[in-house]
Amino acid sequence: MQDPVSICVIGSGYVGLVAAACFAEMGHRVLCVDNDEARVMTLREGGVPIFEDHLPELLAKHRGGVEFTTDLGGAVEASEAIFIAVGTPQGDAGAADLSYVEAVVSEIARHIHSYKVIVEKSTVPVYTNEWIHRVLHRHGVAPQNFDVVSNPEFLREGTAIIDFLHPDRIVVGAATERSANLMRRIYEPLVGGSYYAQPSALPGALSASHPAKLLITSAQSSELIKHASNAFLALKISFINAVANLAEAVDADIEDIAAGLGLDRRIGPGFLHAGLGYGGSCFPKDVAAFHWVAQQRGVNFELLQEIRKINETQKDIFFNKVLSALWTLPGKRLAALGLAFKGNTDDIRESPAIEIVKRLLEAGATVTAYDPAAMERAKAVLPPSAKLRYAAGVYEAAKDADAVLILTDWKEFAEIDLARLNDAVRFPIVIDGRNLYKPQRMLDRGFTYVSVGRPATYQAQQGKPRSGVL
Ligand code: NAD
Ligand code: UDX
Repeated sequence: MQDPVSICVIGSGYVGLVAAACFAEMGHRVLCVDNDEARVMTLREGGVPIFEDHLPELLAKHRGGVEFTTDLGGAVEASEAIFIAVGTPQGDAGAADLSYVEAVVSEIARHIHSYKVIVEKSTVPVYTNEWIHRVLHRHGVAPQNFDVVSNPEFLREGTAIIDFLHPDRIVVGAATERSANLMRRIYEPLVGGSYYAQPSALPGALSASHPAKLLITSAQSSELIKHASNAFLALKISFINAVANLAEAVDADIEDIAAGLGLDRRIGPGFLHAGLGYGGSCFPKDVAAFHWVAQQRGVNFELLQEIRKINETQKDIFFNKVLSALWTLPGKRLAALGLAFKGNTDDIRESPAIEIVKRLLEAGATVTAYDPAAMERAKAVLPPSAKLRYAAGVYEAAKDADAVLILTDWKEFAEIDLARLNDAVRFPIVIDGRNLYKPQRMLDRGFTYVSVGRPATYQAQQGKPRSGVL
């Protein structure tokens, strides 16, 4: 590492903490700030507050290289680049709530005494860059002492570290050459490829001969790239889900259809998995925020509303499948496999699985839930109820169940010992919201199997519902 940069990352959540660990891995000096004292204490003591592959190892490796603090002012003063990675949740009328960003910027302003680059890492609507400028001016920060740069983050939870170190692209929206140059210095190990040449580099798609691509744009373009990327991915998911519903209506198979579509290189195979719909802390709020931006500018972008509506309907359709398979729900015992919004994360924000569990409980069912990582977080949001229990594993959850519901695409749920599952349950019925199994295999293993966008398969003795029921 030739030219380390002093970096301050504000926010130690899924993005801030990953960015801090990865910047240290790239050779920079990092101060990571959070106003959650308990979280900072945990991190200082070597604890890792989120479930993310490679994160514990990287934080242990760079103990001392990343320092955790609640002292935002001190961290700003000691740094050349200040990355803002606080939450931007959904606010009123779909707009992003930027109050955390504004609070941080106001505090940063009091501590700028020499040139700093303020970097928007949080996902923000177009013109946030402009607003940050204005806030800094209003607080009396001299114009020559700062630039504001947009540098959206594209990592996915569950694969965040590898996504960060092996990005498809790095986007930087910078208005001045001085700030663009500092961003070039920060990302040089990935863009120049020196990181990948190190024997200790975490392996991924990129290498010293195929390093990361850096795209420099205006701030507005960079901000729009982030919203447009998330909206486009959400669009792909809603599109395949709508096709799945059509496939079901005509006895076609959505997995074959997705394979056929994905082989077209112009479409690509990614984000074509039909299921319960998208959740998480990004797609739902970012599609809403992007729509709000379009509305504010008088641009018709109702397509974004359709993406959201299809996504909502997907959960209703799944719930109706449960009803159709079980007829009535009061008194039924259901195993819920999965609570996280997707596999390999403990994040339950906007999780379709959580919503389904809530609806099952409201409908009078008894639910035994299991998730490999998200149970503690789920307990904090699901209503305490005698009808809701948590199990330590798949087979315990499935014991005496009237049906097993697969709600999250954990690898563990795709590798269930089906004979053991069949022994555990009361009735061998699996309703799979993530299409983790082949229908014929489930039929052969004695299960009635209902999934998304594929013909359901019924054990003869359980009887196939007549048309119109399912
Ligand atoms: P998060 O809620 O996990 O973390 C935010 C952190 O900021 C929290 O630890 C909170 O305590 C801290 N914070 C809030 N106000 C603060 C303040 N005034 N001073 C210091 N710390 C403060 O959020 P996240 O998932 O990391 O997302 C952060 C941003 O990144 C959002 O804009 C999100 O849309 C975007 N993003 C998220 C992902 C993702 O996969 N989670 C991916 C790309 C982009
Ligand atoms: C997303 C974006 O992918 C990432 O680039 C951005 O930075 C943050 O938001 P994340 O929310 O971590 O990342 O998860 P992602 O893997 O994109 O999945 C989002 C949701 O879509 C999950 O609920 C997932 O189950 C669902 N999904 C994803 C599908 O239903 N089908 C798919 O084909 C892909």
